Amino acid sequence: MEDIVLSGIRSTGNLHLGNYFGALRNFVKMQYENRCYFFIADLHALTTHPDPKILHENVKNALAQYLAAGLDPEKSTIYIQSDVPEIAEMYLLMNMHVYVGELERTASFKDKVRKQPENVNAGLLTYPSLMAVDILIHRATKVPVGKDQEQHLELTRRFARRFNNIYGVEFFPEPQNFNFGHDAVKVPGLDGSGKMGKSEGNCISLIDEEKVIRKKVMKAVTDEGPKTPDSEMSEPIKNLFTILDLVSTPDTVAYFTEQYKNCSIRYGDLKKQLAEDILKYTLPIKERYADIINDEAYLRKVVTCGAERARASASATLREVREIMGIRKF
Ligand code: ADP
Ligand code: TRP
Repeated sequence: MEDIVLSGIRSTGNLHLGNYFGALRNFVKMQYENRCYFFIADLHALTTHPDPKILHENVKNALAQYLAAGLDPEKSTIYIQSDVPEIAEMYLLMNMHVYVGELERTASFKDKVRKQPENVNAGLLTYPSLMAVDILIHRATKVPVGKDQEQHLELTRRFARRFNNIYGVEFFPEPQNFNFGHDAVKVPGLDGSGKMGKSEGNCISLIDEEKVIRKKVMKAVTDEGPKTPDSEMSEPIKNLFTILDLVSTPDTVAYFTEQYKNCSIRYGDLKKQLAEDILKYTLPIKERYADIINDEAYLRKVVTCGAERARASASATLREVREIMGIRKF
């Protein structure tokens, strides 16, 4: 059976290296051999109460950046989550089998409660149900996402299993993360610890100006340098090497690893090289983005056609889910 691949992103800011290497790059590679869906999660974005004036602008920017980074509308179905009303209906149905306790225990929910204690809305709590529906509504089997989304995928599998068990059907497959046989990726920030993320405010965006990228990399946190051969690497230095591994050639990585080991490494040189190699990825994307973002007609065509195809698939699943749950027409 062919794999159905799906991935998505919240429309809350510019595409950054974490999004690209954690999720999008895999998706782009997969779109030539599978049935692929990619969407912008604007309903999920509402959980943090964005200004209505900028919500649409953010959706448009995200779409243009993803197209610039390699999504191919000829190969993949690309759509906006809110253009597919079947998702909202299935979210309602799915919530009947999702328990408040399990949602309250989700790491991302606990994190949001800490970060926005004044806005702990029900949408935030049910974020994983909506994400599960995004996936299950196309009966997707592979979901290329970064490491931070693994708990959400685990919940999706649990909801799928539960639905199948309750109704005695084998309807939903259990979707798996996919990274070509490797562990899921976590792109670190350059501020010493943690992941690169929009809410962390430590992103290198794919459309940052050249000099901004150089500046951000040169400001990355480092340490005093290795004192003895084979001394344990501190977290900030490991992080620099993790990113180097993603953007540079194996020779370059081997060169700096050796320099670290024999204690002759100069972090300034490592950062210069890192900035150079990041720019090789980002500059072509930034150039394509500048063209695409001004082409309103093209963007409209992509999402109109995407919504049509996504709705055809979503409504077929929803029809069966209603039937299985006992909602029938007279
Ligand atoms: P952000 O965390 O910046 O708000 P999103 O939550 O919208 O970004 O993430 C969209 C996709 O990018 C998800 O698949 C997520 O796993 C991936 N992603 C985001 N940040 C990282 C990171 N630092 N490392 C790996 N993948 C990431
Ligand atoms: N929760 C994801 C994130 O923050 C975005 C997302 C929503 C998603 N629905 C999805 C990703 C379905 C993959 C599949 O990154």
